Amino acid sequence: MSPKGDYAAVKKDIASILDKPDYDDGSLGPIFVRLAWHASGTYDKKTRTGGSNGATMRFDPEVADGANAGLEHARAFLEPIKQKHPWISYADLWTLAGATAIEEMGGPTINWKPGRSDKDPKKLTAHDVPPNGRLPDAALGQDHVRQIFYRMGFDDREIVALVGAHALGRCHADRSGYEGPWTHTPTRFSNQYFKLLTGLTWRKKEWDGPVQYTDEDDELMMLPADMAVIRDPEFAKIAKEYAQDKDVFFKDFAAAFEKLIDLGVPRGDDKGNAPVAPNQKKAGAKL
Ligand code: HEM
Repeated sequence: MSPKGDYAAVKKDIASILDKPDYDDGSLGPIFVRLAWHASGTYDKKTRTGGSNGATMRFDPEVADGANAGLEHARAFLEPIKQKHPWISYADLWTLAGATAIEEMGGPTINWKPGRSDKDPKKLTAHDVPPNGRLPDAALGQDHVRQIFYRMGFDDREIVALVGAHALGRCHADRSGYEGPWTHTPTRFSNQYFKLLTGLTWRKKEWDGPVQYTDEDDELMMLPADMAVIRDPEFAKIAKEYAQDKDVFFKDFAAAFEKLIDLGVPRGDDKGNAPVAPNQKKAGAKL
């Protein structure tokens, strides 16, 4: 067991399990990024509910949300690390795994901060776990994407930057119903997603599955929600900028991802006041 608080030791162990030749494209990195994102992306800024704090994806109804299908594998892959470092919370472990994966796959440095605690299953109330339906529906377009991410507190630029994570990994028919990778380099963090989205011609895939888009060679894919990123003029402007400038994308992505994994995490304020739990009403604050 590592000494309590030795996050560098945990990070090292996460990095050491990423390479997995017999899994998908040879890396657990992409699914760890998706785990960190789905644990965090339930946040609702108005009610200050959801988010990565609490590691509520262990519980109903969140654990059974169709949008989280497949993430049980990511959680299981991390279990030996939790056993080795039992002092770390699942909430910190899942977000640290996402941040570490991004860095190890060649992405920007993510300023990950500890401080999340796990909800005690024995003290769980009905309000502690976010309802299903807070994560985006891949079948829908820009209005839906904006609605979901504005609810978390993101703006258009942050939305486009975050979706650039689809440079990584792939869709699995037995998880989401969709199939295939977005890029030829799904274990390498890059701005390829934007290059391909803005540079190739995408047409509806002819198959017996949900509507998704395919390139001329029928090797890559885009979801309807990805197509929103070039169909919406505001989003498209930003996507073209990221396609041309990798450094700007890396900088914006790092900032947006740090914000994402911190949603709902009680941090106190810079005046030294005590942290406020996300679902607690701040004294004097109007919700
Ligand atoms: C409009 C927003 C989004 C939609 C509709 C969406 C939808 C999806 C879907 C349907 C999959 C396939 C799941 C599977 O079959 O295994 C997926 C995978 C993935 N998503 Fe997203 N996503 C969105 C935003 C994001 C964001 C913000 C991130 C991270 C910052 C992200 C990271 C990933 C990664 C890394 C994978 C690959 C997972 C793997 O290879 O197992 N996505 N996404």
